[in-house]
Amino acid sequence: MVGKTILVTSGKGGVGCSTVAARLAVAFARREVSVLLVDLSAGNPAQDLLFGLAERAVYDARDVMCARVDPRRACLPAPTVPNLWVLPGSTVFDGVPGDAEVIRLFETLRGGSDCDVMIVDVPKEIVGVLTEFADVTLAVSDFSAASLRATSALNRSPRAKMQVVLNRFSPEREAAGTLPTVREALDLAGLPLAAILFDEPLLPDDDLCEPGRSRGRPALDVPCKNLSIRITGGHAPLFTGLIRGRKRKKILAKMAKRRLENA
Ligand SMILES: Nc1ncnc2c1ncn2[C@@H]1O[C@H](COP(=O)(O)OP(=O)(O)OP(=O)(O)O)[C@@H](O)[C@H]1O
Ligand SMILES: [Mg+2]
Repeated sequence: MVGKTILVTSGKGGVGCSTVAARLAVAFARREVSVLLVDLSAGNPAQDLLFGLAERAVYDARDVMCARVDPRRACLPAPTVPNLWVLPGSTVFDGVPGDAEVIRLFETLRGGSDCDVMIVDVPKEIVGVLTEFADVTLAVSDFSAASLRATSALNRSPRAKMQVVLNRFSPEREAAGTLPTVREALDLAGLPLAAILFDEPLLPDDDLCEPGRSRGRPALDVPCKNLSIRITGGHAPLFTGLIRGRKRKKILAKMAKRRLENA
């Protein structure tokens, strides 16, 4: 039986839902918490690509949903991250699966795995039926008003513990006044804050494929590690980027230098 269940969703597409689910899964796994990462993206799966499993995966979430395969056979160990298993998403979800099917799959996975944590990358169309079964639901949004409003409109059960992950924060854009402030973003989303992830301009879509390749992404990894600690009841800073004065200038200079080096 899975220990904790975390849903990761978003009101709008392309804002980083799959990225956050993957990074959070890696953060738990690096803390030696065993993780099952389930990709329920309908027709547009991402986790197999992010972890370099696209050619290896034979079965997917749809096969488990239709009871064509035992979940233990369909879940693959992530080649680059110990303690992490991935159930790839299906490219052939024809339409949105029904509530009963989704709940059955969810229960099968929860009951059939001994992982400490199950993280589910789940589209907004199905998240509503699952929120009451989850320990926490993370709604990912970037700083655009459209995405923040879509976040506030997400369908959820009254008992859902839903929080927002603000993605692609840019200290430079915040300083220039071209981003909504965090307070404004939270007002639009209408949810409590789970974490803030920075914009990482050099993020390839298969970033987690090669061992060690993703080690230099503190913009994403530090907030995800801290979020994983908070989810398991520990204390960790909510936003390490709210640094003012000399230290902030030093960090901005370092980021600019890294960008130049990589250009
Ligand atoms: N913090 C970030 N910094 C830089 N790029 C990011 C960040 N978060 C996500 N991205 C990039 O944004 C793109 C979309 O991310 P992702 O696939 O995670 O979004 P999604 O919400 O799951 O999209 P979809 O609606 O297609 O499922 C990807 O190319 C990803 O690398
Ligand atoms: Mg996705």
